[in-house]
Amino acid sequence: MSLGILASGSGSNFEAIAQRIAEGRLNASIRLMIYNNPDAKAAERADRWQIPKRLLNHREFESREALDQAIVSAFQEQNIEWVVMAGWMRIVTNGLIDAFPGRVLNIHPSLLPSFKGAHAIEQAIAAQVRVTGCTVHRVSLEVDSGPILLQAAVPLLPDDTPDTLHRRIQTQEHQIYPQAIALASLLPIPTE
Ligand code: GRF
Repeated sequence: MSLGILASGSGSNFEAIAQRIAEGRLNASIRLMIYNNPDAKAAERADRWQIPKRLLNHREFESREALDQAIVSAFQEQNIEWVVMAGWMRIVTNGLIDAFPGRVLNIHPSLLPSFKGAHAIEQAIAAQVRVTGCTVHRVSLEVDSGPILLQAAVPLLPDDTPDTLHRRIQTQEHQIYPQAIALASLLPIPTE
C-alpha cells in the first residue's frame, strides 16, 4: 500500500504507523506527509523518519476546495493510493474524497458515533461516561462519519483530565490505526 499522510499536529499516529512499517508488520510505504500548520511537530517526526514532507498552509489557499485540490495533485504525483488523516484538523471536501474513493481514512478520539467534532475528549468527560475510546473510519463528507473499520475502548477514570484521558486514548490509537490500514486494504471498497 502506498500511503499519503495528512497531519496538523503532533504526529504521534503517523509515527506509530511508520514504526509498524519499519518493523515489517504493515506492508506499506509512506510516500509523502502533507502538513498545513508550519509549527506542526509532525513535520519534525517526518524528518526523523526521512519521509518526504510538504507544507500546504491552508491560509494561503482561497478555499477548502483549492487546498484539497493541491493535496490531490501532490499525492497523485507520488502515486499514492491511500490517504491517512493523522490528526488532520481541516474539514475535507468532495474533491479529496472522490479522488480516493473509500481510501481516505481518519482516526477520531471517541467511540463514534458518540462525540463527533473537535472536542470529543472534553465531551466524554462532561458526559461522565465510564468508557470512551477511539475509532478508525473511512472518511465521508459529513464530519467524523463514514464506515467504521476498527474501534478500541478506553476507561474514563474519576480523576481524568483531558490530558490524561487523551494519553490513554492515544496508546490505543497507535495500536489500531496500523491494524485498520491493513484491514482496509483487505475489505471491498463500500459503494454508496
Ligand atoms: C488524535 O488523538 C486523533 O484521534 C485526533 O487528533 C489526534 C492526533 O494526534 N484526530 P497525533 O497528531 O497523531 O499525535
